[in-house]
Amino acid sequence: MEEKELKKHQVIPLMGFGTFGRNGKEGVDAILCALETGYRHLDTAQTYDTEFEVGEALRRSGLKRDEIFLTTKISTDNFGPGALVPSLEKSLEALKVDQVDLTLIHWPAPNGRIPLEVYITQIVEAQNRGLTKRIGVSNFTIALLEETEALLGRGKIANNQFELNPILQNKKLATYCQKKEILVTCYLPIARGVLSGEPVLRSIGEKHDATPEQVAIAFELAKGYCTIPTSGRPERIRSNFKASSITLSPEEIARIETIDRNQRVVDPDWGPKWD
Ligand SMILES: NC(=O)c1ccc[n+]([C@@H]2O[C@H](COP(=O)([O-])OP(=O)(O)OC[C@H]3O[C@@H](n4cnc5c(N)ncnc54)[C@H](OP(=O)(O)O)[C@@H]3O)[C@@H](O)[C@H]2O)c1
Repeated sequence: MEEKELKKHQVIPLMGFGTFGRNGKEGVDAILCALETGYRHLDTAQTYDTEFEVGEALRRSGLKRDEIFLTTKISTDNFGPGALVPSLEKSLEALKVDQVDLTLIHWPAPNGRIPLEVYITQIVEAQNRGLTKRIGVSNFTIALLEETEALLGRGKIANNQFELNPILQNKKLATYCQKKEILVTCYLPIARGVLSGEPVLRSIGEKHDATPEQVAIAFELAKGYCTIPTSGRPERIRSNFKASSITLSPEEIARIETIDRNQRVVDPDWGPKWD
């Protein structure tokens, strides 16, 4: 997305850069490469230990704060009464910014051990204090989204981030989110590099002179989702970004919809019961 456009509409850039694994000096270099390539949305989290790297890359890029969209996520360790707001203040310090654009609850409390109301109330407080422009969730099921909406009121959850790619399309949850105008963000958008053997993605890719990963990213963008692939390699950082200029036909999108096989990777035993 053009920077001017980002400022004007203050929307969430749908092409983002994930920062899981982008730690240390190499991590800063990769994030800086992403910014130089044109990514204007960086996705970090308290548990990734990349908030410092994101802040450092942003500083080195010379970009202004309002030219970049920053997302962070609250660790489940920071859900206890009085813990969330100070933890987000620490995140802002590491990021070297006064406010993030979006803060997500990273996971529902493991095994429901802390009531939803306890941490949702605190994330609202963080927003009221101006620490984050928007609030949202990650790895939330339809039932949890409904409970959250009952606490917050309609239209307050800006985003739900969950695993979604052509072999795990999560259609029921994604459709629900879109109906509720909750932006869907796809994590593992290229299924951690296992899509190269997918014949449908390969054959569509041949028509567009694109890799299966680029076709996956183009598919997610065509569906109106936000996508946050990551890589530590400059050529992949650039080729993943280039996927945003691929336009798939309705027939190609329909073909990709047929390869969903509910193949989930991130599935901790303390996680929610997926839709
Ligand atoms: N909310 C959550 O619970 C949650 C969970 C997981 C992830 N996330 C977020 O989502 C982001 C993306 O997810 P992810 O990093 O797990 O998976 P991903 O982006 O689907 O895949 C990244 C992996 O694929 C490889 N890769 C990158 N580009 C490639 C390409 N063009 N061709 C082949 N392989 C390629 C990378 O290796 P190289 O580095 O060697 O290129 C890396 O190992 C994370 O960085 C994080 O920000 C959120």
